[in-house]
Amino acid sequence: MDDSNSFVVVANRLPVDMTVHPDGSYSISPSPGGLVTGLSPVLEQHRGCWVGWPGTVDVAPEPFRTDTGVLLHPVVLTASDYEGFYEGFSNATLWPLFHDLIVTPVYNTDWWHAFREVNLKFAEAVSQVAAHGATVWVQDYQLLLVPGILRQMRPDLKIGFFLHIPFPSPDLFRQLPWREEIVRGMLGADLVGFHLVQNAENFLALTQQVAGTAGSHVGQPDTLQVSGEALVREISAHVETADGRRVSVGAFPISIDVEMFGEASKSAVLDLLKTLDEPETVFLGVDRLDYTKGILQRLLAFEELLESGALEADRAVLLQVATPSRERIDHYRVSRSQVEEAVGRINGRFGRMGRPVVHYLHRSLSKNDLQVLYTAADVMLVTPFKDGMNLVAKEFVANHRDGTGALVLSEFAGAATELTGAYLCNPFDVESIKRQMVAAVHDLKHNPESAATRMKTNSEQVYTHDVNVWASSFLDCLAQSGENS
Ligand code: ADP
Ligand code: G6P
Repeated sequence: MDDSNSFVVVANRLPVDMTVHPDGSYSISPSPGGLVTGLSPVLEQHRGCWVGWPGTVDVAPEPFRTDTGVLLHPVVLTASDYEGFYEGFSNATLWPLFHDLIVTPVYNTDWWHAFREVNLKFAEAVSQVAAHGATVWVQDYQLLLVPGILRQMRPDLKIGFFLHIPFPSPDLFRQLPWREEIVRGMLGADLVGFHLVQNAENFLALTQQVAGTAGSHVGQPDTLQVSGEALVREISAHVETADGRRVSVGAFPISIDVEMFGEASKSAVLDLLKTLDEPETVFLGVDRLDYTKGILQRLLAFEELLESGALEADRAVLLQVATPSRERIDHYRVSRSQVEEAVGRINGRFGRMGRPVVHYLHRSLSKNDLQVLYTAADVMLVTPFKDGMNLVAKEFVANHRDGTGALVLSEFAGAATELTGAYLCNPFDVESIKRQMVAAVHDLKHNPESAATRMKTNSEQVYTHDVNVWASSFLDCLAQSGENS
């Protein structure tokens, strides 16, 4: 068996998205989202194996190695898996529930069955490729049941689980009709990791509550014992399971490969600024087009600042790049049409011929192009209602190591616990976004030393806690976990 098979990552997404052409050939493009951004450099370094879905329906290519040395094992999803497991249970049940009900989750038993079946399919695929005694790192909310299934199939494996999105308070999680089975699935791992201490505490509190529930299916009542407290990058919290296993729980804030987000080429940045007609202030938003990201709210804040004269249309522009995401799901469609309507309205009100005030792209850009935008931007707007971490904020900060620029950041993004030099806003309150946009612009103009100190505090944090720190702290704790109590 290949050496790659002693370190296996399993995620719903492979790092590449495949398109099948009529002649049966495939083309590939990078797949969207922060999970792929975070894990790709880790897998390249370990020359590991990645089991996941290639973005196609009903077909998948044979396993192959990427240019960067990662062995990919595609898992086939059928059209009905795609609807029930991916669009349904993962993204219309778990995603809104775990993001604190920004929209109402749908509880549908058929979707739940699809979720169980597809989790079984992923576990079987891992079981086939993982070497004896391999380390398997299971990723994210789409695969919550995989640790438990895999533990039964392959007791020889060391199993870690990491959640890339928030973990909600027990009061919200308990809405889930299938809550016991999901907790039991997660507890199949030797180590369960979250971004934030708060997420880990929510999980520990939930475990305690579910354990105390009469008739619980998670072992017998009172057979789960919780001890210790959730810490960052080290383990003191444990859950003892009915079968005598000790599951470790901790917080491991994800980060980025800082090497990839240094400053962009000066000439490309100057060209862009010229194209934009040399504005005094460039605001920037970069997101997947997701209703959790607060894109509409930041557009409204920009519009109201233009309306009141706090910003001048001749001097400020907003660039908004939105990657298409989960486009068939209702709330995503609504969110897109609200964003696009607002862009049209704001340009209609405040733009001139050849000089829009909002430049909007609904597509993915290359890392190089993103870097040019980050470098050209004065104020980055990251305003999610709720976000596990938000790597865009960290990418912008890494790009402004020289202390230029300012970051307006939602207090409900995981990154807010680390980027203490950001201008923190409450995205539910447009006045708060406006205040922090104005404060950032004011400091850049009139108080540049204070603005630079803030940005350097942010970039110092990211440079000293990059993605290698995230992965190695998780994997070190995983190596030490799992001893019997
Ligand atoms: P999420 O994982 O919810 O999408 P993150 O901010 O954590 O949010 O991660 C998003 C990742 O996707 C970042 O690495 C960012 O650079 C990338 N990204 C976002 N929008 C685009 C885009 N339009 N083109 C290319 N990459 C993008
Ligand atoms: C977030 C999730 C990832 C997901 C990504 C893109 O980052 O945590 O698990 O892969 O969004 O979403 P998609 O549905 O396109 O995979």
